[in-house]
Amino acid sequence: RKIVVLNGCNLNLLGTREPETYGRDTLADVEALCHKTGKECNVEIAFFQTNHEGEMIERIQSCRGDASALVLNAAAWTHTSVAIRDAVTAINVPLYEVHITNVHRRDAFRHHSFLSDISVGVICGFGIQGYEYAIRKAALSL
Ligand code: DQA
Repeated sequence: RKIVVLNGCNLNLLGTREPETYGRDTLADVEALCHKTGKECNVEIAFFQTNHEGEMIERIQSCRGDASALVLNAAAWTHTSVAIRDAVTAINVPLYEVHITNVHRRDAFRHHSFLSDISVGVICGFGIQGYEYAIRKAALSL
């Protein structure tokens, strides 16, 4: 029972990056919330962030045979990357897509996701609590 939580580009800046959009919570706060939720749900949590698409693809590949579920905030790559989609498809691990903001009330280019149709479900617009909801749902389904 291991849930891998992956964060894409620019999420290292959480808390200081456009706080009116993304809030004041930092990525360290997100990580702490994920570990707390993992403990409550009796699942192991692995947490990772990168600004490098290739590194993200390698981290996703390493989930094959290792992770029970993947919680992914692919950030801008959500809207651009067939490569990340293909990596997720390749590993055969259930995907839970998370966004801090409600992408549907933002720019039109954020309305399309290369991940949503290969996800169990999508959580967006609930701030960093979305990570908690995704972990809880994923843990219930293990
Ligand atoms: C985001 C939404 C994306 O559109 C954006 O590029 C991000 C963060 C979110 O969590 O709201 O970097 O994934």
